[in-house]
Amino acid sequence: MDEAFELGNRVRKDFPILNRLVKGKPFVYLDSAATTQKPIQVIEAIKNYYETFNANVHRGIYSIAEEATAAYENAREKVARLINARSPREIVFTRNTTEAINLVMYSWGQNNVREGDMLLATEMEHHSNLLPWHILSKSKRANLKLIGFDKEGFLRLDELEKYKNEDVKLFAFTFASNVLGTINPVRELVKYAKEMGAVTVVDAAQAVPHMPVDVQQLDCDFMAFSGHKMLGPMGIGVLYGKERLLEEMEPFMVGGEMVKTVGFESSEWNDVPWKFEAGTPNVEGAIGLAAAIDYLQHIGMDVIRRHEIKLTEYALDVLVRIGEITYYGPSSPEQRCGLISFNLKGIHPHDLAMFLDNEGIAIRAGHHCAMLLHSKLGTVASARISFYIYNIPSEVDLLVKSLEKIKRMLGI
Ligand code: ALA
Repeated sequence: MDEAFELGNRVRKDFPILNRLVKGKPFVYLDSAATTQKPIQVIEAIKNYYETFNANVHRGIYSIAEEATAAYENAREKVARLINARSPREIVFTRNTTEAINLVMYSWGQNNVREGDMLLATEMEHHSNLLPWHILSKSKRANLKLIGFDKEGFLRLDELEKYKNEDVKLFAFTFASNVLGTINPVRELVKYAKEMGAVTVVDAAQAVPHMPVDVQQLDCDFMAFSGHKMLGPMGIGVLYGKERLLEEMEPFMVGGEMVKTVGFESSEWNDVPWKFEAGTPNVEGAIGLAAAIDYLQHIGMDVIRRHEIKLTEYALDVLVRIGEITYYGPSSPEQRCGLISFNLKGIHPHDLAMFLDNEGIAIRAGHHCAMLLHSKLGTVASARISFYIYNIPSEVDLLVKSLEKIKRMLGI
């Protein structure tokens, strides 16, 4: 068996939740694009923090406070190394991808975008990388334009050409679509943006957990992703930003810890990245995320990518053979991330997900926070399976068996 297929079997022992039964059947988790399961190493790291050095960070001058601060800042360094940021100062901890993008919209957008400026996004965005730009374009009377995608789910690069001579201030796009699976040519899109003089905001929620990502090579200005989609806990996310830009920006929230000096009427902000981390941060989350990064890097991001390509290739192959299935996005697994959204003719995705739950299989159904994308596909909803390091081909086989069963029951 291929090394990439072996990965799931090798790591499953580390994920206690995968041993449980659901509806009396072995649990098959195919919703890692929504959130990933957690290995014992991450759970233990969090437990160890609470059991041995729980304290607030950047404040205490006693031993465990210093240990907590060191662990929190060590997590920032690990994130910086994971994406090859120039410095940990370019890493801001947020709650999640959504908060990271909102931070850019408020702190950078509200101060740099003027009436009549153009903002670009795409029709394949998750709401978290679309709604902030709705707000910004409305509040500043800027023009928001969306780049479309073609029948195979690829961005229409020809549409970008149209805006070459416009005063484009910002180009926001997803690295990998959470519905189509399409992996966008980020380096090329950043180059286009630079030619237009635009700042780039990359939603990498479905990319950083799944493949090697190098922000210096991509040269993007901002990138956002979430810890819980890469084995870490919920409530910790990351905003990468070029230091020069972060330096120029005003804080998103104000309060404790993000100031150097406070006078009667004004204050001096802390250095980056701390000026963007007002209040007590999510120390537990950062420590869990650091353990998750260790775990992923021990496997190797390139091995994870190959594993997901193999599984996606296998799943696409067996799914189309069932018949009456429409899947969305590129046909080549090399051009997709490890998720597949589809519709089975004659059954609503919600009913399909409920049926599969009775078989112990967890999938996502709905619009996946991408309503505009679904309306472009001509459907209101889809069913979605998504993989991570612990998935194995036999889980795809169980899914196929269940889909065949439902087809028989409904006479499809
Ligand atoms: N944004 C996550 C998803 O696509 C929750 O499922």
